[in-house]
Amino acid sequence: MSGQATDRKPWRIGVAGLGTVGAGLLSFLAGNPAFAPAGGLVHVHGVSARSRSRPRPVDISNLVWFDDPVALATWDETDLFVELIGGSDGPAKAAVEAALKAGKPVVTANKALIAEHGRELAELAEEKGVPLLFEAAVMGGVPAVKIVREALVGDEIRSIAGILNGTCNYILTEMEATGRSFAEVLAEAQRLGFAEADPTMDVGGFDAAHKISILAALAFNCAPNYAAAEIEGIEGVDLLDIRLCRDLGYRIKLVASADRSPDGVLVRVHPSLAPLAHPLAQAGGALNALFIEGARTGRIFVQGPGAGAGPTAAAVAADIADVVAGPVRPVFQAPASELSPFTPVDPSKSIGRAYLRLSVKDEPGVIAAVSETLAEAGVSIESFLQKPVEDAQGVPIVLTTHAVAESVLKAAIERIADLPAVLDRPRLLRIARI
Ligand SMILES: NC(=O)c1ccc[n+]([C@@H]2O[C@H](COP(=O)([O-])OP(=O)(O)OC[C@H]3O[C@@H](n4cnc5c(N)ncnc54)[C@H](OP(=O)(O)O)[C@@H]3O)[C@@H](O)[C@H]2O)c1
Repeated sequence: MSGQATDRKPWRIGVAGLGTVGAGLLSFLAGNPAFAPAGGLVHVHGVSARSRSRPRPVDISNLVWFDDPVALATWDETDLFVELIGGSDGPAKAAVEAALKAGKPVVTANKALIAEHGRELAELAEEKGVPLLFEAAVMGGVPAVKIVREALVGDEIRSIAGILNGTCNYILTEMEATGRSFAEVLAEAQRLGFAEADPTMDVGGFDAAHKISILAALAFNCAPNYAAAEIEGIEGVDLLDIRLCRDLGYRIKLVASADRSPDGVLVRVHPSLAPLAHPLAQAGGALNALFIEGARTGRIFVQGPGAGAGPTAAAVAADIADVVAGPVRPVFQAPASELSPFTPVDPSKSIGRAYLRLSVKDEPGVIAAVSETLAEAGVSIESFLQKPVEDAQGVPIVLTTHAVAESVLKAAIERIADLPAVLDRPRLLRIARI
């Protein structure tokens, strides 16, 4: 725990919504109260959900319970309000408005709320001088909002296009892989928990439209305008189209895009063809992926988990860290005087796979000698390749190893280099752990 963390009384967080994301956040904060680089300790003080008696994956017995999220939002012991209920209107909106009116910082994962009421909520937050942050609302664990809102303000974003709904991506991926219909795969996704009981927001393209509307507002310095989005979902995607597109070298993805032209901004969501080798076509299963094109930076691509308790709670926690840090964060992840020393690890102890290229004499028994030497040294071969090319130096042979300690590998290389049939020092390349 940093010294700075103890300087200030802990931040008392009020969390409304204890479902997938809320429970994930509580679980993280319970074990990591000092996670924020600056600003002090963070702990959940009050909670609200629909049912007090529902069993939860986290212990809430020591937290103050509120039946009404508005009461939690305005409670004088709530320093920061986190809204994880969902929905563009109703209790989520009422609670966020109440918290902002009461001058409390707000963090939310609610894309529908920000896409549909972002402007009025921003006016309220600015009037009260408090932050309203929503990193988790777009792409869950992938910091798309921070990239567009902060990292690229020095550029001029021209267009954004991506896969912003994991449920649709999962369904399309499975349809292509298994040859099953939309209805069959949707039913399975619902059984596995990848799709809601009412899947309309996802498969109808509305969830992706909320997210791209938010990114468009941040990218093009305008108010979010969800109502202007042109939206088509994946319900009409036919297996026949998936097959025919594949034959043409394309894959069908639900692509959300936002483009700026001299005439204005076009925000669209619709099933679109991506060339098979394109990173968007390669992002399978429930992954999210996003391209951002800037006038000066060129193209940026990010990909990752767009939903789930862990990734989404991590994004909410990042916003909480921003709020508690205040306007000036430490240069690194703690005040410089409190940074832990860097502890270097001895590289010879690292373990990984390797590629070795040898130049050997063209005579019988060479490969056996190399294999035996490696085995004796404790290195196990994964694959062997002998190219039928002979140059002045001899015959090149190439092998890859299974995972081995660097020190063992280096000792083995010395022994191979000493073999009479080996003409040169073996060439070592590490196989990346990616
Ligand atoms: N799930 C994800 O992976 C993900 C990813 C990115 C963003 N988000 C966003 O995060 C938010 C929460 O999503 P979620 O998946 O965690 O939803 P969820 O699992 O459906 O949980 C919703 C929670 O809100 C509570 N709630 C409903 N009505 C309420 C009311 N009137 N007063 C107080 N609490 C109420 C529910 O209470 P009960 O538990 O008692 O029913 C439940 O705990 C949504 O805005 C969603 O779009 C989710």
